[in-house]
Amino acid sequence: MKHLLDFQDWDRTSLEGMLETTQIMAEVLDRPVKKVPALQGFTVCTAFFENSTRTRLSFELAARRMSADVLTFTASTSSTTKGESLKDTLETLEQMKIDLFVIRHSASGAAHLASRWTDARIINAGDGRRAHPTQALLDAYTLKQHFGKLEGLEIAIVGDVKHSRVARSNADLLVKLGAKVRLCGPATLLPKELEQPGVRVTTNLQEALEGANAVMALRLQLERMSTGYIPSLPEYQQTYQVNFKNLKHAAPDAIIMHPGPMNRDVELEGNLADSSRSVILKQVENGLPVRMAVLYHLLVGKK
Ligand code: CP
Repeated sequence: MKHLLDFQDWDRTSLEGMLETTQIMAEVLDRPVKKVPALQGFTVCTAFFENSTRTRLSFELAARRMSADVLTFTASTSSTTKGESLKDTLETLEQMKIDLFVIRHSASGAAHLASRWTDARIINAGDGRRAHPTQALLDAYTLKQHFGKLEGLEIAIVGDVKHSRVARSNADLLVKLGAKVRLCGPATLLPKELEQPGVRVTTNLQEALEGANAVMALRLQLERMSTGYIPSLPEYQQTYQVNFKNLKHAAPDAIIMHPGPMNRDVELEGNLADSSRSVILKQVENGLPVRMAVLYHLLVGKK
């Protein structure tokens, strides 16, 4: 595979291979010297046209842990503020012999377009509401690490599904790997067309949580909302907040997940996020070996 844009062209075997490489990378990160020469001579550019904490920093650290050279492009301080287009920006950067771009953009499909405009490899670090494949990979890895398997797990994803690239990528990936997904939120934030084999869509939180092995809360993406999708924040919290009270409907050992950033006590009760049921910080930790594995697979190949 040359690019990781979404999971459309990735079969179960390749995805499981990626999770196996992640395990190897996690072992590297447990060593006293957390650095290997695997990507020596390669140049990775992180090109973020939207803000990020976890994804960008973990990609940059992942590349450095494998000895690649890293170039950081930040849209807000670049010539895009003078009107330079995405295509011209990428073509300009490519002249600096970039081997791989990690791209985040607010436009759905931006990473696909980028893959046509440059010969470099492309990793989609989130495009609009369409896909965020490395977030889904780290979520799958975290679930597998916790439960020892993905086959047969029931995962509830609750919140602003409409604007969530994380929900879409998780629905694609987890089903490919044998889990089942329930998507839940208010009707205005829950596209019915996301229902597919292995993915159930419901506006009823209790139904979504019933017996679930993991509950992933999603942030209300107010920055992508032009009109009012919810009557009021208190009403939303009352009906869709994931908290200790409604977690009793889930499996007794159910875990809490969140891709971040979290609006504490809105979509998820803060105390629950901080409790022993939560694997939110584990998700962040796993972002690093997952991104090392993806960079390795795309630049070196599976050897
Ligand atoms: N989950 C996620 O993509 O977080 P950042 O926006 O901080 O990268």
